[in-house]
Amino acid sequence: MASLVKEHILDLKPYVPGKPIEEVKRELGLTEVLKLASNENALGPSPKAVQALQEAAATVGLYPDGSCSALKQALAAHWNLEPEQIIIGNGSDELIQFIGLTFLAPGDEVIQADPSFVRYEAAAILNQAKCLKVPLRNFTSDLEAMAARLTPRTKLIFVANPNNPTGTMNTRDEVERLLDRVPDHVLVVLDEAYYEYVDDPDYPDSLQYVREGRNVIVLRTFSKIYALAGLRVGYGLARPDLIGYLNQVREPFNVNSLAQVAALASLQDPEQVERARRMNREGKEQLYRAFTELGLPYVPSQANFVLVDVKRDSRQVFAALLRRGVIVRTGDIFGLPTHLRVTVGKPEENERFIAALREVLQEAWGEDHDCHSRP
Ligand SMILES: Cc1ncc(COP(=O)(O)O)c(C=O)c1O
Repeated sequence: MASLVKEHILDLKPYVPGKPIEEVKRELGLTEVLKLASNENALGPSPKAVQALQEAAATVGLYPDGSCSALKQALAAHWNLEPEQIIIGNGSDELIQFIGLTFLAPGDEVIQADPSFVRYEAAAILNQAKCLKVPLRNFTSDLEAMAARLTPRTKLIFVANPNNPTGTMNTRDEVERLLDRVPDHVLVVLDEAYYEYVDDPDYPDSLQYVREGRNVIVLRTFSKIYALAGLRVGYGLARPDLIGYLNQVREPFNVNSLAQVAALASLQDPEQVERARRMNREGKEQLYRAFTELGLPYVPSQANFVLVDVKRDSRQVFAALLRRGVIVRTGDIFGLPTHLRVTVGKPEENERFIAALREVLQEAWGEDHDCHSRP
């Protein structure tokens, strides 16, 4: 059957999602499983969003508002932009796909950091474009090295800021130097899925670039801090002409009605965002302390996950954690074979992960990390 498939589609590797909780329970006969693998927000969605969903449930017999007008109006007011500068997607994943479909022709080039979010390369392959992957420097996207790869065939530069899977960010200066170097035929996609978690004052105000009419598309999502990953809502912010082209490839009803209702209600609950931000900040500190005690180097993160070097084949550590009912991500898929990526959970979840990790390192590798015996 492979001969029926378009040749470039054969190069696409299916996305490998974090292992589902129910599958792990079944396979390992466990009753309690903790998933810290997909950068979800353990605090959960705003109660206002849940209530709005309950109220809207009976309306699902109707098609959604295809233009997401209420949500776009609310986002425009929230970010001081015009609705014409906004497109809503079935997750920001879908917007990455739209960007590829709209702008990439066979033979075009895409530049991205390596490792970074896997869907950028997929957008290139799907459109028979070439994806140039530029190694990270000190776990951070090296925007200078990426700019050095510009050619007349370059169409898109994808920058995940903060980057997934490292949690590192690029500063305002770095991003502006990149924007100043890109020629008119190149678009820079600033993927800010973890925007709301960042607390570094040097983080760029990317919406300013949109307002200035630069060649940028900013991507944000309701999947992370707003904890609506299951509903699939992301949005793109860009000049009206760019949004217009993206709308040409969009299906008429790409964002379901419950997703629209929940996203709108979530925007009206800034306190929940603040709670999530605080929980994440404290959770990261909890993880950093544990990694330091365990002698494991980690990458300080601006997002809701932490990359830690377990200093041995991380697939083995992953498997041992899994047997203890804790799901994380191995770094091998990102070319980081001794690293694990762990999502920040609630305090008791982080503690459970830390206890399991300590146990795994002691039992399987005979390492003694009894922090209580230390002075
Ligand atoms: C950098 C980055 N961009 C985009 C996404 C996709 O998010 P969404 O759920 O909005 O499709 C993710 C999800 O993990 C991500 O890490």
